[in-house]
Amino acid sequence: MKIFNKELANGVKVPCIGIGMDQVTDQRQAYDAIHCAFEAGYRSIDTASSYKNEEAVGKAVQESALSREELYITTKLTAADQGYDAALRAFDRSMQALRLSYLDCFLIHWPGKYLYGETWRAFERLYQEKAVRVIGVCNFNPHHIETLVSQGSMLPLVNQVESHPYYPQNELQSYCEDKNILMEAWSPLMCGGIILKDPVIIKISRETGKSPAQVVLRWHIQKNHRIFPKSVTPARIRENLDIFDFELNQDQMSAIETLKDHNQKIGPNPDIFFEV
Ligand SMILES: NC(=O)c1ccc[n+]([C@@H]2O[C@H](COP(=O)([O-])OP(=O)(O)OC[C@H]3O[C@@H](n4cnc5c(N)ncnc54)[C@H](OP(=O)(O)O)[C@@H]3O)[C@@H](O)[C@H]2O)c1
Repeated sequence: MKIFNKELANGVKVPCIGIGMDQVTDQRQAYDAIHCAFEAGYRSIDTASSYKNEEAVGKAVQESALSREELYITTKLTAADQGYDAALRAFDRSMQALRLSYLDCFLIHWPGKYLYGETWRAFERLYQEKAVRVIGVCNFNPHHIETLVSQGSMLPLVNQVESHPYYPQNELQSYCEDKNILMEAWSPLMCGGIILKDPVIIKISRETGKSPAQVVLRWHIQKNHRIFPKSVTPARIRENLDIFDFELNQDQMSAIETLKDHNQKIGPNPDIFFEV
């Protein structure tokens, strides 16, 4: 098993895969999933203050035998905490819950309505003070990024957005790559739903001898997405990492690419959603 790193525009190296923690509100379950993930070889965790498991993440990190430098931990700022002072206070709360002396990656969770320019100035301050190694955004369309940059001085290093074969966001990825922003794909398995039963995916699963989930995750890796599939099931946590011993050929990649015609998004539209 070989997790490779991606290098961000500021030189920070980021594991191409981590474990996602959305909707794991049971602290014991969150702790156990991370413990299992570390044993399997994951070194990156994607959480958010709105996921209500930063404490469990902090406890699992503190009690693990891994050194802090080996780990890459992301958390996110909720809409209610947008604004310069509010963002700095929220950062302190997250750091206390996570029990960390520095954070690897801090993201604005959703663009929200008016304040993300102010929030971004707070993020830049945290970055300059070396409290955070990587700052970025989630669910930002190009116009949000243009607004952000017009009010701050730094481009985001990362944009975390919904992406899976039914909604790959190829145009947004090209935009991000042109600006040297890494696109991260959330809900890479489309929440474990219909994508895993799609006939194209099932056919490739048979051809490769890999599970449908592994085929989809491998497609993401070959598309240059950073991913963090969520699972609290030990066998799936291990399965989702076991994707580095095979490659999808050009025909298989092209067949999966045709699924974008479903144009099926599962999350809200960032232009009209302001709550998280
Ligand atoms: N920035 C944002 O706005 C945003 C939004 C959504 C998500 N995210 C991040 O992205 C992460 C991943 O997205 P997600 O949690 O929405 O969905 P996901 O990773 O696409 O799918 C997770 C679901 O798939 C199931 N699953 C996992 N591995 C599987 C496998 N090998 N075979 C079959 N089913 C499998 C899981 O079940 P079990 O757990 O029961 O095994 C769970 O129900 C989140 O956890 C979060 O960290 C970010």
